[in-house]
Amino acid sequence: MNSVLEIIDLEVHFPTRRGPVRAVDGVSLTLHAGERLGLIGESGSGKSTIALAVMRMIKPPGKIVGGQILLDGVDLLTLSDEAMRRTRLAEVAMVTQGAMNSLNPVIKIRSQMIDGLKAHGVELSKSGYEEKLGELLTAVGLEPGVVDLYPHELSGGMKQRVCIATAISLKPKVIIADEPTSALDVVVQRQVMQTLRRVQDEIGAAVILIGHDMGLMAQFAQRVAVMRRGHILEDSEVHQIFANPKDPYTRELMESLPSFDRDTRFMQVIEEAAEEVAAVAAAQ
Ligand SMILES: Nc1ncnc2c1ncn2[C@@H]1O[C@H](COP(=O)(O)OP(=O)(O)O)[C@@H](O)[C@H]1O
Ligand SMILES: [Mg+2]
Repeated sequence: MNSVLEIIDLEVHFPTRRGPVRAVDGVSLTLHAGERLGLIGESGSGKSTIALAVMRMIKPPGKIVGGQILLDGVDLLTLSDEAMRRTRLAEVAMVTQGAMNSLNPVIKIRSQMIDGLKAHGVELSKSGYEEKLGELLTAVGLEPGVVDLYPHELSGGMKQRVCIATAISLKPKVIIADEPTSALDVVVQRQVMQTLRRVQDEIGAAVILIGHDMGLMAQFAQRVAVMRRGHILEDSEVHQIFANPKDPYTRELMESLPSFDRDTRFMQVIEEAAEEVAAVAAAQ
């Protein structure tokens, strides 16, 4: 299988008075084209730092001190700032937990989305933009009329969908979703995840989903990598992570889930997730 993103021996440090915090400490990870990879691990294990490193958005004094991040064979760490700016959104896009709060409250959705497209060199006629925005919003299950609204007129789930619409606007090869639904209630989480799943399928993007909801993970990911203290402990097919975890820490993580039974846990999680999806569908 073609690998679209290859992280090799990545090291990201945050200097402190007591010496550098090795937030990411020699991580290698491969993402195949169109694949859905889950990234799990306790808070502070370095998941978001990996995401930010791939986007080259680590804030100083944090620093990428080693490794390579190959996107289709090109090391993002060697690109000029301008080339990296063009790569964001066009090649690799990110949706975060706080994405919905990054929408400017006093500007209508239309202008914000058009500005995003313009910033990436998409020049269309007025009606061209209108059509493009309509397509994008429809793809994430929103009415095209949402362009006329201000962010405060949208629910959290709708705002996250606008952010997903923006993230897919240039059909990136890779989407990084860092706890995209953590700030939403359970029902809306499922809806937003289904949206993400559908658009990733439509545009054929590979996705890294960062999160801690095992139900969402089991339902979404094909492969799961487990992080702890800046390291990847295990990187396995999703069924294996649930049914037969190799690493002792992964086992602990799975055992901390309610009613853990190694043989049935995966099916149980899948079934629970399926029931919730059915409930969501029935409620609509
Ligand atoms: N801006 C920062 N300054 C100092 N330390 C940071 C900063 N951002 C992250 N870290 C440290 O890096 C580690 C990983 O953080 P993070 O990637 O946010 O973890 P996760 O997303 O898995 O919860 C943590 O130990 C955190 O304290
Ligand atoms: Mg995080």
